[in-house]
Amino acid sequence: MNNRTVGAIDDTALEEQRRFASLVFDINEAYFSQTGRHRLALTHSYGCQQNVADGEKLNGQLAEMGYGFTDNADEADIIIYNTCAVREHAEDRVYGNLGALKHNKRRKPNMLIGVCGCMTQQEHVAEKIKKSYPYVDMVFGTYAIHKLPEMVYGTLLNRKRVFDLEERQNYITEGLPVRHDGTLKAWLPVMYGCNNFCTYCIVPYVRGRERSRSSETIIAEAKQLVESGFKEIMLLGQNVNSYGNTTPGELSFAELLKRINAIEGDFRIKFMTSHPKDATAELFNAIAQSEKVERHIHLPVQCGSNRILKLMNRGYTAEKYLETIELARQTIKDAAFTSDIIVGFPGETYEDFKETLALLDKVRYDALFTFIYSSRQGTRAAEMEDPVPYKDKTEWFAELLKVQSKIAVEQYQKKIGSVVRVLAEAKGKTEGSLSGKTEHGTTCEFPAHEQLLGSFVNVKVTDAQNWSLVGEIQQ
Ligand code: 5AD
Ligand code: SF4
Repeated sequence: MNNRTVGAIDDTALEEQRRFASLVFDINEAYFSQTGRHRLALTHSYGCQQNVADGEKLNGQLAEMGYGFTDNADEADIIIYNTCAVREHAEDRVYGNLGALKHNKRRKPNMLIGVCGCMTQQEHVAEKIKKSYPYVDMVFGTYAIHKLPEMVYGTLLNRKRVFDLEERQNYITEGLPVRHDGTLKAWLPVMYGCNNFCTYCIVPYVRGRERSRSSETIIAEAKQLVESGFKEIMLLGQNVNSYGNTTPGELSFAELLKRINAIEGDFRIKFMTSHPKDATAELFNAIAQSEKVERHIHLPVQCGSNRILKLMNRGYTAEKYLETIELARQTIKDAAFTSDIIVGFPGETYEDFKETLALLDKVRYDALFTFIYSSRQGTRAAEMEDPVPYKDKTEWFAELLKVQSKIAVEQYQKKIGSVVRVLAEAKGKTEGSLSGKTEHGTTCEFPAHEQLLGSFVNVKVTDAQNWSLVGEIQQ
């Protein structure tokens, strides 16, 4: 297979994994007959939704191998950490949690411990885990999730550590069992990998080049989710706007949205992430025409200074970004926007940072996901001079939060008096209330009977509190 062709992990390879799964199932059944106890699995996925979606595939395979599930590490017979490498903090948490598992393993030497995901796809990290955490049995990368049954079988039987960090860059794995975390909201990956190489970001190195799933498979899966009662489908990709670009003749993302919108049923469509450089009129028109698609676009700007945007390799200027927002606003009535912001990119000055604040004031986001720059080994930004002390960056960060929380409250207050459509997802913070997200992605809480959990309700907004709306059901 050459570097440009996208292939699927073939059926024979998956069939082989199913055979391993059924062998493990038999071993687990034998254990149950002897002990009266089912073996239990605990998986934890760190980081982005894409990773959480991978975690559901790990769980699907574990269920097929006869494992039950637990949240309690002391009870677990197999623990898998599905890791994130986007920031150092996420990696440190994994190391901390892995360190704590040493005691579990000492108490229960037969338990299995696995580490997978983006962290392990970096050579220096895989080496560190191999050396410093000798009680970790399985270390495998983002390209080896489908090989879990073989790895579990091998470690159960031979008690030997296994490592699979091969880069199967151009492959897509279809047909893996998925165990959804809930019954209301489902993740649906439409593509994997990223070609953008933003200079701060490790993702293209650990998840490989962009490859899109076939629209036929995605639409069939969406139908199935709706038929099984899911009320929200979140389409996932690092940059959904370039969906299909690497597959000749494939639908555009805008067209895909319209086709999923045409599926019968009462459900909502969300998607993330849209890269601003590829967000087009076609996309906004598709959203405007598709009533099931939420009126909210997550369009990460990262920063407001053109100098820094260039160093980040983002492919747009602040002015171009603002034009895109304006186009979206004109096309989609009442659109809401959110963004990711990085503070303290190498070489960013306070003047640059002020341009980010100025941009926030112009766009007026409903919410932000804010990060202090974290240097990632192997990225281009990691080689850039970074003279600003971390303490200064934390001060800028605090200033950013202050500015945004004022904007958010003002944005939310504008909603008072309007009627919003909410998917009642969970019990609210106040006794006797439910909470859920509006079509703009805002949390809304309202008094309601539990019977309404899982349905869409119209709510009249009566108040706006920190980070959420409060309202009453409109009959
Ligand atoms: N440091 C800080 N934030 C980062 N992100 C990605 N890489 C880094 C990094 N090295 C943020 C970006 C991205 C989000 C998912 O994580 O804002 O959009
Ligand atoms: Fe990272 Fe940029 Fe790709 Fe997003 S678009 S995953 S920030 S490289």
